[in-house]
Amino acid sequence: MNSNKIKVGILGATGAVGQRFAQLLADHPWFEVGALTASDRSVGKRYADACKWLLRGGMPPALADLVLTPTEAGAISSDVRLLFSALPSGNAGAVEEELAAAGFAVCSNAAAHRMDPDVPLLIPDVNADHTALIPVQQARRGWKRGFIVTNPNCTTTHLVCALKPLHDAFGLAAVNVVSMQAISGAGYPGVSAMDILDNVIPYIGGEEEKVEIEPRKLLGSLAGDAIALADFLVSAQCNRVAVRNGHTEAVSVKLKRPAGQAEVAAALTSYRGEPQRLGLPSAPNPAIILHAEADRPQPRLDRLAGNGMATCVGRLRPDPLFDYKFIVLGHNTIRGAAGGAILNAELLYAQGYLA
Ligand SMILES: NC(=O)c1ccc[n+]([C@@H]2O[C@H](COP(=O)([O-])OP(=O)(O)OC[C@H]3O[C@@H](n4cnc5c(N)ncnc54)[C@H](OP(=O)(O)O)[C@@H]3O)[C@@H](O)[C@H]2O)c1
Repeated sequence: MNSNKIKVGILGATGAVGQRFAQLLADHPWFEVGALTASDRSVGKRYADACKWLLRGGMPPALADLVLTPTEAGAISSDVRLLFSALPSGNAGAVEEELAAAGFAVCSNAAAHRMDPDVPLLIPDVNADHTALIPVQQARRGWKRGFIVTNPNCTTTHLVCALKPLHDAFGLAAVNVVSMQAISGAGYPGVSAMDILDNVIPYIGGEEEKVEIEPRKLLGSLAGDAIALADFLVSAQCNRVAVRNGHTEAVSVKLKRPAGQAEVAAALTSYRGEPQRLGLPSAPNPAIILHAEADRPQPRLDRLAGNGMATCVGRLRPDPLFDYKFIVLGHNTIRGAAGGAILNAELLYAQGYLA
């Protein structure tokens, strides 16, 4: 083990997102995996024995012999500073609070704490300043070293990465989004093959509510000890489609100030956020890739843009009801989940919160 690296753990390490964490952290320049947890079903087993590995390239060899522990503070090695949570939302709420109270920094994918007023809902490209809620959270909850930071729902993440430059340059008045979401977004084993093959399922439980509220917190402004929600409304219709990875979203936006199509395109392509300015290891550069081709982006061709961390936009054109419409595509388990949480942790490290 390289003692200069920060030791991290993965909660829910055997699941779809947990495996992405394992894969993306395997050669990370700043972080090193020292703990893996899962449910009672897996506790006490070697990672290689408990985990049905789903990703290309095989399980990182250094993790194969690690033994899965319970998801409890006392079971996790005390030299671990940071925990990446890929727990089911139903379990994450109380467990993440216990772990933060015990002194761990928790970067969570789960929905449980995303809308807590004192918990940052973070995309470093979008609202890096919202980490100022961390000391507020610690003071309010009596936590000394520990805290919780969350990343958004996978559909929200790429939507907001594309909206941010437009919000900054022209102001957003209204957003309509129809998503076509990949099967891997439902975890493993997720949706049954009998349900999804040859099909579109026009319902994903709880998803539309998340996609309608999370962008307003992300694009809201820090006002004292809280976030004032952005004042535009979002209407979302979320669908599950027979794609393995990569969420596609058809988006229409109404702007507060008039803008020509070339100005909108320039705002998207020129956008650089805090991860690009700081040169964070997982930051895509550029953050947004604007396609000129009539039939792009597509999940199979474009989901790994920027190592799965970039947001692809295409088919930018005027909208007869709103001002502009376009397609957004991004990887749901990389930038939309594990990669997004790792980028959050890189920002926290750069800002001094992991000392
Ligand atoms: N998939 C995505 O694209 C995506 C995107 C953004 C956010 N998320 C969120 O990320 C989280 C994980 O999603 P997923 O798709 O990876 O789910 P998943 O494939 O079902 O994996 C769940 C993981 O949690 C473990 N687990 C289950 N119950 C537990 C308990 N009581 N205590 C400790 N560990 C427990 C499982 O361990 P066992 O193997 O031992 O059962 C497994 O490792 C969810 O909150 C989800 O909403 C997912």
